[in-house]
Amino acid sequence: LQSCLNNNFMIEQFNFDIRLIFAILNGKVSAAINRKLSRNFRQNGLEITPEQIQVKASDIKGFFYALQTIRLLLPSAVEGNRRVENIQWSIPAVTIQDEPRFGYRALMLDAARFFIPKENVLRIIDCMGMLKINTLHFHLTDDNGWRVEIKKYPRLTEVGAWRVNRMDVPFYFRRNAEPGEPTPIGGFYTQEDIKEMVAYAADRQIEVIPEIDMPAHSNAALAAYPQLACPVVNSYIGVIPGLGGGSSGVIYCAGNDSAFTFLQDVLDEVMAIFPSRYIHLGGDEAQKGFWKKCPLCRQRMNKEHLADVEDLQGYFMKRMSDYVRSKGREVIGWDELTNSSFLPEGVIIQGWRGLGAAALKAAEKGHRFIMTPARIMYLIRYQGPQWFEPQTYFGNNTLKDVYDYEPVQADWKPEYASLLIGVQASLWTEFCNKPEDVDYLLFPRLAALAEVAWTKKERKDWTSFLKGLDVYNEHLTAKGIVYARSMYNIQHTVTPNDGMLEVKLECIRPDMEIHYTTDGSEPTATSPLYEKIVPVKEPLTLKSATFAQGRQMGKTLILPVRWNLATAKPVSGDSPSVKLLTNGIRGSLKYSDSEWCTWNDNDSVSFTIDLLKPETLNTLTLGCITNNGMAIHKPSSVKVEVSDDNSSFCEAAMRSFTPEEIFREGNFIENLPLKLRGTQARYVRVTAKGPGVCPASHVRPGQVSRILFDEMILE
Ligand code: ACM
Ligand code: ZN
Repeated sequence: LQSCLNNNFMIEQFNFDIRLIFAILNGKVSAAINRKLSRNFRQNGLEITPEQIQVKASDIKGFFYALQTIRLLLPSAVEGNRRVENIQWSIPAVTIQDEPRFGYRALMLDAARFFIPKENVLRIIDCMGMLKINTLHFHLTDDNGWRVEIKKYPRLTEVGAWRVNRMDVPFYFRRNAEPGEPTPIGGFYTQEDIKEMVAYAADRQIEVIPEIDMPAHSNAALAAYPQLACPVVNSYIGVIPGLGGGSSGVIYCAGNDSAFTFLQDVLDEVMAIFPSRYIHLGGDEAQKGFWKKCPLCRQRMNKEHLADVEDLQGYFMKRMSDYVRSKGREVIGWDELTNSSFLPEGVIIQGWRGLGAAALKAAEKGHRFIMTPARIMYLIRYQGPQWFEPQTYFGNNTLKDVYDYEPVQADWKPEYASLLIGVQASLWTEFCNKPEDVDYLLFPRLAALAEVAWTKKERKDWTSFLKGLDVYNEHLTAKGIVYARSMYNIQHTVTPNDGMLEVKLECIRPDMEIHYTTDGSEPTATSPLYEKIVPVKEPLTLKSATFAQGRQMGKTLILPVRWNLATAKPVSGDSPSVKLLTNGIRGSLKYSDSEWCTWNDNDSVSFTIDLLKPETLNTLTLGCITNNGMAIHKPSSVKVEVSDDNSSFCEAAMRSFTPEEIFREGNFIENLPLKLRGTQARYVRVTAKGPGVCPASHVRPGQVSRILFDEMILE
């Protein structure tokens, strides 16, 4: 290989030796290759015939990407580091001409919430390279940890990288640290570690963009240097193990020049070890309660003629952005930067809230932007039917949801599309407790992000993507990565209709067969094939699973259908999910598993069931979930009224609960029974009141709590 490179051969005429491919895959020879590339090719191409492999590339990136394609065409054993016997190192003959849709194709990794060991980051980077993702946005600082060595401020990693052990409960239940508690959980990257990761990424044509979040998400830094918070903060500042409650509102003081000097010093060291074109300055979710009370912040607002605290953040971000730009770098910030009446010059906005619309406010002003909408591109969300998934936040972003994402919207002005530089999947790690949890959330959804970023809309095809994905997944397995198999699991929907329940079973992979049983036996490839909605008229347990070539592919869905007087009866109320209350299926501990009925206005929740004929009623039981981490609690009161004509109702039962009974900690389901004492009625109306805002001692103080019911059981 070395002699090939040292001789004056032209790369495009070279017959590949397989060892050359391996050497390049190992990132060893990119600089040498780069010097020898022909600049004459306008379009990158790969042609594999029985005689030769021809790569046409005008730059090292194109060459590297051709090799990644070859890599995926080779048997997955190519990923291993042991000699493999009895293997045919053959590649199918193909011709590929290709170019990416977007120049910015990114993954964000949050190493702050969960410290991801360097070796795992390196392996993820290699898997990104295989997918031709070219940017790693590295979220290195947050309330929950500071992860990069800064020599001028050693306490950032001595103190800021370590937090109390609250591993016994999920992130959103974790109570803050008490002063003096041991802080064994965490870790950080030395500057040498960073240089190694940056170089390893560069060999794979990946730029690593560091994010130093400001002015908020800064408790880890402020635990180390509390004098940089507003002087009105008089509580203990520690590295936060969870949501933080009121502590998450502790942020850098915008009136204290030392905070700016500190951040400039930090960025000097960061820019020295990250040679990236872009530096990310965060800017998200800054609560401004302390800024409003702080005399220094108020002084700053007066002096700078700033209208409000949003413009004070605008000032903060502009000052820091100007500093970074003075060093020849460009700045990226989260979409909250558009909350201020002015944006830092040239800043690139990352749209994340909702569907990312706030980024368009920046586009309107001519700024470039990146899309990473939380509702589709946040990989912290569930990637499949929630009954099978480890606990995390919010709703689903399945592999298919990510794959189907189309960033350019029909109603956009044409100039917006030209300012969109790319797309990003963002992995927040609040619910990761070990490196394997990171892999699980990333893979295989990262491959779907890569497709969104690379492939033009009109050329996308879900079925052929899955074929390629299966190959990629084999390579992941060969690298020792356990990817999620959620794409093989079944999502159920059970809907009452005219005294019957209709059971719908769906798998996002169209190449799967679903087989099911209703007699309690385990489903096999010879059980009845699910072809259309299954009607159910009685209590039973429906079991189902996906199969391919006779082999079970996903987990077995066990669906116990229960029956009571309310089951399958018509129910009305002002929630789109009200039919869940009589569908015979209980919800799980996951409040977003699609079995829990929710309301927009938790102050006045009401629903009415029509039993179709008068019935004798002894009890009404409401299934109710508590998850204090998400401010979900039981109602403050529930009233039951009955009627024969659905017009005049009379009260049949009433219960109310005290704040102590309501605002309990944990994640549990309760049945709330109301005695109806043999009342006869056809219509039953339930009215419930939400418990209002969470108290000051709550992990979500001041947030309006919600009530969720899974089932209304009438006996
Ligand atoms: C974010 O999710 N706070 C950017
Ligand atoms: Zn202040």
